[in-house]
Amino acid sequence: MIESSIGVFDSGIGGLTVVHELFEQLPNERIVYFGDTARVPYGSKSVEIIRRYASEDTELLLQYNPSLIVVACNTVSAVALDVVKATAGNIPVMGMIGPACLEAVATTTNGRIGIIGTQATVTSKAYDNGINAVALGKNIRTFSQACPLLVPLAEEGWQDHRATTLIVEAYLSPLKKAEVDTLILGCTHYPVLSTVIGNYMGPDVTLINSGAVAARNIKGYTTNTTNLSAEHLFLVSDVPSKFQSVGERFLGYKLPLTKQVIFKEAWVVV
Ligand code: DGL
Repeated sequence: MIESSIGVFDSGIGGLTVVHELFEQLPNERIVYFGDTARVPYGSKSVEIIRRYASEDTELLLQYNPSLIVVACNTVSAVALDVVKATAGNIPVMGMIGPACLEAVATTTNGRIGIIGTQATVTSKAYDNGINAVALGKNIRTFSQACPLLVPLAEEGWQDHRATTLIVEAYLSPLKKAEVDTLILGCTHYPVLSTVIGNYMGPDVTLINSGAVAARNIKGYTTNTTNLSAEHLFLVSDVPSKFQSVGERFLGYKLPLTKQVIFKEAWVVV
């Protein structure tokens, strides 16, 4: 068990789109993935609860001796990256926000960047603040939109359904009116819907897949801990059957057998 690995966690299944990118960019790295399927979604929960879950998820990954922790969940990256870093100690942590902000600022030509994500991510303004922090004198405006219905639609496999087309139009029309030329897909699930999102926004809008950008950045972070012989490990907190059946569509690869972990907590009045 003490083989080195990249530890990745998400609120559930969506982080498999980030693992897809890691498989593409770093095919020799061993991945230990945790999806908190028993407590998903995080995006509609309070900041306080998300921060507690983030700390507990990190503690689980630490048991597997990661050389790096990747916070695949945009919601956790937005509201609890500091908690993950504090829990991880000297192990480096990579979230989804920073790399995507840099990429968006480098991509935009008209200075109008759209951001879509969960309610918690959008309310946090983590992307808006991250973009402003790296804008370096560029005149940039951000336009953000929470799209909570897109998560269940992606899990349902409705990427080609006309209901999804209508919902995407309803959510994205303010961003289209705002004439953004760059749109950050600030949620693990949105790459699954990138065709319908891209079709609506049009060919002049560049979509930024936060997971793909982060995976490219991770190349520079990994230490020489590649372990070609070790197998990937996938863990979830609910029974694995749904994760196993829906997961391959998100991962784009055959999903190895997934194991369940149980967090033993006690009720305490606060
Ligand atoms: N993984 C979450 C994110 O990227 C989406 C699902 C949820 O709300 O937990 O923000």
